[in-house]
Amino acid sequence: MSIQLNTHYLESFIKSHEYEQIAPQIRYADQILREKSGPGNQFLGWVDLPKNYDKEEFARIENAAEKIKKTCQVLVVIGIGGSYLGARAVIEFLRSPNYNLLKKDTPNIYFAGNSISADSLNDLLALCEGKDICVNVISKSGTTTEPAVAFRVFRNLLEKKYGKEGARERIFVTTDRARGTLKQFSTEAGYETFVVPDDVGGRFSVLTAVGLLPIAVAGIDIKKLMEGAAAAMEKYTSPELDKNDCYLYAAIRNILFRKGKNIEILAGYEPFALLFNEWWKQLYGESEGKDGKGIYPASVIFSTDLHSLGQYIQDGNRILFETVLNIQDTKKSFEIPNDPANIDGLNFLSGKDLDDVKRTATLATVLAHVDGGVPNILIDLDERNEYTLGELIYFFELACAISGYVLGVNPFDQPGVESYKKNMFALLGKPGYEEMREELNKRLTF
Ligand code: PA5
Repeated sequence: MSIQLNTHYLESFIKSHEYEQIAPQIRYADQILREKSGPGNQFLGWVDLPKNYDKEEFARIENAAEKIKKTCQVLVVIGIGGSYLGARAVIEFLRSPNYNLLKKDTPNIYFAGNSISADSLNDLLALCEGKDICVNVISKSGTTTEPAVAFRVFRNLLEKKYGKEGARERIFVTTDRARGTLKQFSTEAGYETFVVPDDVGGRFSVLTAVGLLPIAVAGIDIKKLMEGAAAAMEKYTSPELDKNDCYLYAAIRNILFRKGKNIEILAGYEPFALLFNEWWKQLYGESEGKDGKGIYPASVIFSTDLHSLGQYIQDGNRILFETVLNIQDTKKSFEIPNDPANIDGLNFLSGKDLDDVKRTATLATVLAHVDGGVPNILIDLDERNEYTLGELIYFFELACAISGYVLGVNPFDQPGVESYKKNMFALLGKPGYEEMREELNKRLTF
């Protein structure tokens, strides 16, 4: 069993009748998900994606990744939100947060188009100087401003460097099957395109070309990632809480939320999980934070954050619960050296493996936080590999959908994201937004 939910440290926070009371709501959420009759039911393509994906496109993704590996020293991945977080999370989790600094036979991978920062764009252009570059631009809508601006910059750069023909060989586009400016433009320019399926929303798209192409370029086995997700798809089918850890996690979140635990902290003990936390925050934040409801998803990496947020978690406002990613075996070890003089008094750790020390630190922290009134859910992962991560991704996606339905929201839309976009278009003078611009300007102070 590669991932398992450990509810042992919840015993003092949740009574057994509370599980019984929420069970019918979980069964109902399962029913509307499986029957495709709930809100947002046009975006359920991710549910059977790990098995029912386009095999022909999958082979094209593998071929394109090989081509990119052969022809480029740098792959620039342009996208924002669900169009980049998944790929970055998987690459950092499975390779390293220092992936670009590693000695390796795969290209450096830089992410662009996820901010509006002149500094960061200039830095990136400087990093690309003198390097052979490929670009993978990813946008489902094809109209998101941040990636569109970055794509314009990199397209110009590639056309200057390699000519229009050469650039065509180096630009890979992941977008809607038929709609949108990017699709139209790519067809005209002759770029190789990959599809964001109509029925898969951005934050649920890591196991489509959106995530898989950059992940494959990083030398990660995308077949194994899909196999892990497929195993989770088979494993989490029962609507009964005692037979389905994924649904149990969704139930626990809702039980705790109803008791005033408004913030869930995803806690990792490995720096390589930092971006995975970010992917998870988008998944849950965009899916549940609406209609004036939702658990606020936060995250920490320990030990780092034990020395920043640790005080608050232990002792501050009791509105928190923690979900701990407990990775049992990272397949790396580091023996703590002995010092005959023992000047630092650390010889009680001599010869111990740092990974064992981490496991002990994890349990020590869980106990302290439970004593401090913070319910702790543990998700045990037996190993750090493609298969387990695929399983974990699917676990969180499915739990998010069930949890959102129990909360009573549409987990698959994101109407709130549009508000800033509209204001930004109006204030920047996009044609069609003239009236709105006037209204907004009246409210601004310059
Ligand atoms: O989850 C989502 O749908 C969003 O986060 C989108 O992925 C994000 O807004 C980017 O949109 P697009 O891919 O259309 O550029």
